[in-house]
Amino acid sequence: MSAPSGGKGAPHRPVLLLESLQYLAPVRGGLFVDATLGLGGHSEAILESSAEARVLGFDRDGVAITFATGRLARFGARFRAVHADFREIGRVLDEAGERDVSGVLADLGVSSLQFDTPVRGFSFRHDAPLDMRMDAAGDEETAADLLARLPEEEIARLIFEYGEERRSRRIARWIVERREAGRPVGTTVELAELVARAIGHKRADKIHPATRTFQALRIAVNRELEGLGGFVETSVDLLQAGGRLVIISFHSLEDRIVKRALRRLAGQCECDPRLPVCACGARRVVEILTKRPVVPSDDETRDNPRARSAKLRACAKIEQG
Ligand SMILES: C[S@@+](CC[C@H](N)C(=O)[O-])C[C@H]1O[C@@H](n2cnc3c(N)ncnc32)[C@H](O)[C@@H]1O
Repeated sequence: MSAPSGGKGAPHRPVLLLESLQYLAPVRGGLFVDATLGLGGHSEAILESSAEARVLGFDRDGVAITFATGRLARFGARFRAVHADFREIGRVLDEAGERDVSGVLADLGVSSLQFDTPVRGFSFRHDAPLDMRMDAAGDEETAADLLARLPEEEIARLIFEYGEERRSRRIARWIVERREAGRPVGTTVELAELVARAIGHKRADKIHPATRTFQALRIAVNRELEGLGGFVETSVDLLQAGGRLVIISFHSLEDRIVKRALRRLAGQCECDPRLPVCACGARRVVEILTKRPVVPSDDETRDNPRARSAKLRACAKIEQG
């Protein structure tokens, strides 16, 4: 399999690569968990940074596991991949007998391998069944299944919440009307055309009118926000003193979950001050390294438009005195 492009024919380049390495500091060596292996670009850079670094890569997509395993074979036993959801990080590391992790990286969202493979149904640039499952071999519902099953209000809610689409109700109505006419939306182009007709396309729009709806469905199909806060907490528990956690998110809801989890882990209680005792679980176990999220440079966004909404947050586990 050849390396997929990062859009517009550019070679794939991991998002915020130098910044990720700066915060992960792989020169320290030890075990790094790449929670979102994808094409293995970040993992490769970690492994190249230090001969003392090992990587355990997670992905819920079996195709990504195969691709990255081939790409990183030259690192021998320093690299291992596991076909698992990163929310299982605690169990997987326990079973592997691994502890004292030097760093955890999560570069959330879809990979270009997924986005640019027409049959996966993530993009309306190609006509294909409306699938969008990151684990295409799993038993989760596809996007078409969701649109065939969910009530209109629920479709509108998820398009509004996960897509930040103001005209979500109108889109949901059109989807359900089509379903009731015995022609449920089944393909990417059918959905893109329906959305474009439902809400129109203004000349000033920088993105296709269906972009937000596609993002919302992808998040819903893969339940991308569920368990993200728990993953942050468990990752920090697995870190050795001085270990680093780096998370790159692409959506404001994702970023908010990460930001709040990091704040709680830095001991910032978010309870109502009138409560007699803290109930939010705040504990001071990390130092936040990014007071503000780190975003890509203009050069990176120009070379890779998909990086434009990326936000990186990082923390270090506090050394126990
Ligand atoms: C943006 S890509 C990562 C790209 C990678 N950093 C690189 O340099 O090639 C995100 C990857 O994370 C995977 N992924 C997303 N959510 C996941 C989860 N909960 N568990 C495991 N893998 C997940 C996706 O399948 C996708 O392959």
